[in-house]
Amino acid sequence: MDPGEDLWALGIEEGVVYEFVCTTYNVDGTPHASAMGCRFLRDRGGVTAFSKLSKTSRASGNVLRRGSFVLNVVDPEVVVEAALDSGVLSLEFEVSERVDAPRLKGAAACLELSVSETSEDEFWVHLRSRPLAVIVRGPNFKPFSRGHAALLEAAVHASRIPIYRQLGDSEKVEELKSRVSYFLETVARLAPTPTLLAQSRAIERMYLRPLQTT
Ligand SMILES: Cc1cc2nc3c(=O)[nH]c(=O)nc-3n(C[C@H](O)[C@H](O)[C@H](O)COP(=O)(O)O)c2cc1C
Repeated sequence: MDPGEDLWALGIEEGVVYEFVCTTYNVDGTPHASAMGCRFLRDRGGVTAFSKLSKTSRASGNVLRRGSFVLNVVDPEVVVEAALDSGVLSLEFEVSERVDAPRLKGAAACLELSVSETSEDEFWVHLRSRPLAVIVRGPNFKPFSRGHAALLEAAVHASRIPIYRQLGDSEKVEELKSRVSYFLETVARLAPTPTLLAQSRAIERMYLRPLQTT
């Protein structure tokens, strides 16, 4: 069986962008971590992972040089540490089984990937990759999705609209509506599943349309 098929058992949904820590080796062989979004789609060859890395990043150079990387499922604060190198958290690495890239110690799950196709535009290196191994080690192995977080934010802000409408604060109502619109755009871009799109449409219908006065 294609190891990529194990992804669906992790609760990963097709087409949703999930946030990971991407681990690679630098030129000098030291391990490197950065944050990376990735979505997975089924195709005739199995499962393909789609991601893009900024051309100026160390991660993109590392991935292109070695042709492989690991996506580590970790808590959002670890993703942020890998992106910003703030020094609040320290990251530890270990050797992977199937690919020429390190893994993060303590990751709840690790996806070991091999790059199958690359292309570049002015800003990004676009990667298509194949999962070679999916290793589950902890109980909270579902990766974080900004699209799902955006749906929650949209719902929270939408639910406040009737309160401010009742208070007659139209300025606050307009501010909330514009936030809700922004979050719904994020849902459509990052987590366009049938359920999330249906919930987005419901929020739009219930809260963003002008009130019927007749
Ligand atoms: C949640 C999150 C997701 C990110 N996803 C990506 C991504 O998919 N591609 C990318 O190039 N940078 C992404 N970034 C920014 C990089 O992680 C950050 O700029 C990076 O650590 C710098 O790259 P380098 O250390 O490899 O040079 C993301 C940042 C955050 C906070």
